[in-house]
Amino acid sequence: MTDRKKMTLPMLFEKYHHDEQIIMLTCYDYPTAYLQDEAGIEMVLVGDSLGMTMLGYESTLPVTMTDMIRHAQAVRRGAPHVWLIGDMPYMTYQASVESAILNAGRFMAEASCDAIKLEGGREMADRMEGIVRAGIPAMGHLGLTPQSASALGGFRVQGKGAAQAARIIEDAKILEEAGAYSILLEMVPDRVCQIITERANIPIISLGSGPQANGQLLIYHDMFGLYPRFKPKMAKVYGDAGEVILNGLKQYVAEVTEKTFPQPEHYFGIKDEEYDQLVEMFGKPRQTSS
Ligand code: KIV
Repeated sequence: MTDRKKMTLPMLFEKYHHDEQIIMLTCYDYPTAYLQDEAGIEMVLVGDSLGMTMLGYESTLPVTMTDMIRHAQAVRRGAPHVWLIGDMPYMTYQASVESAILNAGRFMAEASCDAIKLEGGREMADRMEGIVRAGIPAMGHLGLTPQSASALGGFRVQGKGAAQAARIIEDAKILEEAGAYSILLEMVPDRVCQIITERANIPIISLGSGPQANGQLLIYHDMFGLYPRFKPKMAKVYGDAGEVILNGLKQYVAEVTEKTFPQPEHYFGIKDEEYDQLVEMFGKPRQTSS
């Protein structure tokens, strides 16, 4: 187990003020959380992308608070040192400030999260303000916001035109003024990200928005070839775990079929004197094991 210190908000801001990059990944389960904590990942997002990566939905929209809390609890158990962010799922904050505060509070109370994230710009400023006023650190999310993919015309780069980019730049300031401690920029052109980063007094994290931000986020499943449907351009693949697992599964199928698995080191025996008593009670089995 790592002996690193638990990441806190002052520690994140210290990195930010020293111009050190903040390292962020998504995570949805206990064993992966353990590895990410060991590897030194600092900020972990239990994203509602789990609807696609873990639950096989076509989008993030069907994800519920119950799904999110269950996965966030598992991640917290595996990664006690990281700054853990619970992602507010669809329609758990859009309807009212009150629903936003109550659902944000669930991440803190039930899953020991350190913060929450919500999607949207100026139209979500009052939700952001309410959550922050309730004492909950909140991260904003601008650019491609998957919960609004239908309204945004699909999963595509946002802010390519000056007018749309200006709106995103303004939204970043509005969220900062509403109390966001950080903003995630997803699929925004690099030079737009640079303008936002230079104007901000809080860490800006990039997902496919270039190197000018104060930190980087990747979707864990994209990094290791674990999402079979597609691989977005912004995802660097660090290893093909999907292929390793698939090869292992095929080998298992072959070995069980050929009866070469299991070998003696994979199962348990019984002492002769105990076995002899069983033979007396039940008779000798027809087929003796090798
Ligand atoms: O749900 C998620 O993982 C996210 C990322 C795409 C930023 O919100």
